[in-house]
Amino acid sequence: MKFLNLRLKINGEEKIIRVGSRERLLDLLRRLGYKSVKEGCSTGDCGSCNVLVDGVLVNSCLMLAIQARNREITTVEGFVTGRKLHPLQESFLEFAASQCGYCIPGILVTAEYLLSVNPNPSEEEIRRILVGNICRCGGYTKIVEAIRTASLLSRERR
Ligand code: FES
Ligand code: FES
Repeated sequence: MKFLNLRLKINGEEKIIRVGSRERLLDLLRRLGYKSVKEGCSTGDCGSCNVLVDGVLVNSCLMLAIQARNREITTVEGFVTGRKLHPLQESFLEFAASQCGYCIPGILVTAEYLLSVNPNPSEEEIRRILVGNICRCGGYTKIVEAIRTASLLSRERR
């Protein structure tokens, strides 16, 4: 495997990192300590590894790290501003929408993407986008309610 220097931004921070030519974005992010990015299926089906790449929802298990050259990556670690939680995180806490929690970072990233393109999603639209996120604990009802409430909170804060 060849090694290359990669320049990219992660959660607003510029980085130059040595990466393997076949290293996946998922592995790079975890190697750098972004442990919210989880590995589930490794085949693009479970959404546990979801991140935003230039604002677009991506399965990081299906993307090579070198494809992130000069791009901006957002993980859940980048959601928190100082000590303040993101409206989605507040809402998930309020609704106790997390059980074991393994799928939740990926779902938060999916929800953030949805609210960026559709600030007022219907329940059906939320359920539709969540087809790409598998929660083995099956707590979808509270997850959907939490996302719906977060969309209201986000709009009130604007
Ligand atoms: S680990 Fe990437 S979609 Fe499941
Ligand atoms: S909360 Fe356990 S997998 Fe979703």
